[in-house]
Amino acid sequence: MASDVTRRTLLRSIGVAGGAGVMFESMRALGLAASPQALAAPDFRAPAPGDLDARRRGKKVVVLGAGVAGLAAAYELGKAGYRCTVLEAKDRVGGRNWTVRAGTTETDLDGHTQTARFGRDPDLYLNAGPGRLPQSHITLDYCRELGVAVEPFLNSNANALIYNEGSGVAPQQYRTAKADVYGYVSELLAKAVDQGSLDTRLTASDKDALLTFLSGFGAVGGKATGYAYTGTSRRGYSVEPGAADQAGVVLGPPPSLSEVFASQVGRYFSFEFGYDQAMTMMQPVGGMDAIPAALHRAVGKDKVKLGTRVTGVTDTPRGVEVTYRDKRGKHVRLDADFCVATLPPHLMAKVPTNLGPDVTAALRYPTVTSAGKIGLEYRRRWWETDDRIYGGITETDLDLQHVWYPSSGFHGKRGIVVGYYNTGTASGTYAALSPAARRERALAQGVKIHGEKYRSELASAFSVAWQRTPFLEGAWVGWPSRTSGEYSLLNEPAGHVYFAGDWLSYFIAWQAGAFDSARHAVTSIHQRVLAEG
Ligand code: ALA
Repeated sequence: MASDVTRRTLLRSIGVAGGAGVMFESMRALGLAASPQALAAPDFRAPAPGDLDARRRGKKVVVLGAGVAGLAAAYELGKAGYRCTVLEAKDRVGGRNWTVRAGTTETDLDGHTQTARFGRDPDLYLNAGPGRLPQSHITLDYCRELGVAVEPFLNSNANALIYNEGSGVAPQQYRTAKADVYGYVSELLAKAVDQGSLDTRLTASDKDALLTFLSGFGAVGGKATGYAYTGTSRRGYSVEPGAADQAGVVLGPPPSLSEVFASQVGRYFSFEFGYDQAMTMMQPVGGMDAIPAALHRAVGKDKVKLGTRVTGVTDTPRGVEVTYRDKRGKHVRLDADFCVATLPPHLMAKVPTNLGPDVTAALRYPTVTSAGKIGLEYRRRWWETDDRIYGGITETDLDLQHVWYPSSGFHGKRGIVVGYYNTGTASGTYAALSPAARRERALAQGVKIHGEKYRSELASAFSVAWQRTPFLEGAWVGWPSRTSGEYSLLNEPAGHVYFAGDWLSYFIAWQAGAFDSARHAVTSIHQRVLAEG
């Protein structure tokens, strides 16, 4: 197509001649409209019982780890009659998909034991690991298939706050920060366009179109004002509008252009542009662990052996031998045709195997990320009643990093705020403290944003530091390179051992990665079984 104008003219004439449906199909052919294929997850056909003749049916698979990858592998293999045993070191399924609620007890690697004292209301929980599901992710397809009810997760909220302590500016609503940044950026660009600074790049009609856009985007004045940004009701009101003669008082005047840029509030805006992080997101009703709970039921509770520690994996000419210590400390040997190993790579690297030094080195290669969260239970939902914040996230330059308000239980009695969700150094700072000291630090920081009620209304707290959590010892991993051999080696079977987990996908730190990776391993095993003569 010669130019966009020609393309537009063509589409318009197609629309006139053939109607909207024909025009939409033409747009799709030209790559201008999203096609359902482009949004679908990669092809996967679950193994079906009819695929396997009597000789091949009932092959044994031992799955290491009952996180999402392990459970999903057992679930999909089970559909075709593979006999799966899932070994899980913890006394619960889910791995990092862990929902803390009243009575949850955990002892970390430093010997700190916490028991959650949250109230018993169904919305009083902390999703200590994953907390949000993008609309595009396969995780939602599993929720649908397994009957896990979902509801919106409010990832961004114009009423939530931005607080950069380093700038010395008081916490302000996202809406106010956006109005000012967009306003001044629009003013500057409009001035540059108007003064001809971009004439080598823009045609006269481009300039008109851009100025029209900027006037709406930034709420700037017209040419006569020099496209000045002088504030707007988008910033919010210091006195709300009301009935009769109560027009309200717009929050203002805005800070100067220099003050707005110096405050660096704009650095948080691009988060919601991320493909995985855009509104609207979803969450399971009543806690993220509804997903592993449903998988556990579908796999069969008797197939999952909790409290078992894998002590060895040996590939043999005919299959695999897995040894483990059961709940009572008894040593057990399990022979199977295949193994799907879904432990975090840095922990799998410590399991004695005969898979060779290259496999062990590859398992040690990814770098482990740390992350932590604290659930702060409050006696009243002051963020809704006092601050008019219904869900969403406050962003800070404090070591809290992100503060999440609950996306459910609105107007309930109590509520749980994620008082911090931090990664990297900040997470290390909190991980080094006792749970009580973490709580005190989080409260002292949060008071800077929300005032004394952040401390005085607290009912209870529960924190997690993933790097100090037994059998996980990290939040997620990163690959320094995916092309240096390690990633591809582990995406191939090592004899009869297949690896799976979000760490072997391009969806690291998302359950979709665990599901997709499990499906990859399941497909490889099934094709191998079908190909066996
Ligand atoms: N997927 C993780 C999150 O949403 C990292 O925070």
